[in-house]
Amino acid sequence: MPGRILDGKKIGAAIRADAAEAAREFARSGRPPGLAVVLVGDDPASAIYVRGKIKASREAGIASETHRLAATTTASELGGLLDRLNRDEAVDAILLQLPLPDGLDASEFLARIRPEKDVDGFHPENVGRLVAGLPGPCPCTPAGIMEMFRREGIQVKGSRAVVVGRSDIVGKPLALLLLHQHATVTVCHSRTRDLPAVCREADILCTAIGRPAMVGADAIREGAVVVDVGMNRAETEEQVRDFFGDDDRRLARFRRNGYTLVGDVHPVAMRERSSAYTPVPGGVGPLTIAMLLANTVALAVARQSAG
Ligand code: GUN
Repeated sequence: MPGRILDGKKIGAAIRADAAEAAREFARSGRPPGLAVVLVGDDPASAIYVRGKIKASREAGIASETHRLAATTTASELGGLLDRLNRDEAVDAILLQLPLPDGLDASEFLARIRPEKDVDGFHPENVGRLVAGLPGPCPCTPAGIMEMFRREGIQVKGSRAVVVGRSDIVGKPLALLLLHQHATVTVCHSRTRDLPAVCREADILCTAIGRPAMVGADAIREGAVVVDVGMNRAETEEQVRDFFGDDDRRLARFRRNGYTLVGDVHPVAMRERSSAYTPVPGGVGPLTIAMLLANTVALAVARQSAG
């Protein structure tokens, strides 16, 4: 029997509705929660993500602003903007969209954002809080995945979880959150020997590697829950046929746009072997945006109660 679809759009909408309600509640104090998004350079994918984040935050009653800086922005200009946003009383949350253009060191600027306004949880102090299991903002994608497990009744405690990918944005924080929820966690990466054999151990298999359909049927235990964070482009008709068979809608999308999105897991293998899975698109993506809103309101509330 094919796996159940974990519908990120539906779950994300529920998280967003809760965040909107909390934003309305906060606004009774005199102003809405404030989010500032900083986008440096002209990476087309980042521009699309940022537009989605701003639109969703406005719909949730969050006062949001985008600061678009040229790819030629200097370190002192970017630092100066972050300092201004750190001081701005109406800004509760700051998001520095990654990646930054060559020549700007992300770790330097992530550390420049005040930890109390760090909506992604990327500041070293907040990374430390996450490792120690202390309260604080958590990176949006892993936090959204954990919230999905909670809302969908997927048992994490006692499960074997395998996370493929060790990025600071997804893999590492997701592994920590799973560990805090009492999963037995293995983190895999490009040097892992016999990746399929390790993945087959997983009751919960999460992939965040950015390789189109790299994880196949031989890596999925029958009945596993599969969470696919990958958002890759299938750019040849051969790939589209390999990944989606004769799915006419996919072929039509590919012919219209020149590509269609595919995750890190082979879509047919994922559907046929899992008990539940996140589709691409429409799985993890909407959860990330929803958690950004939830994190923004949580930071606003925490700043208010800290006085
Ligand atoms: N680039 C890709 N994902 C993210 C994210 O979650 N936060 C930020 N700031 N940049 C990203």
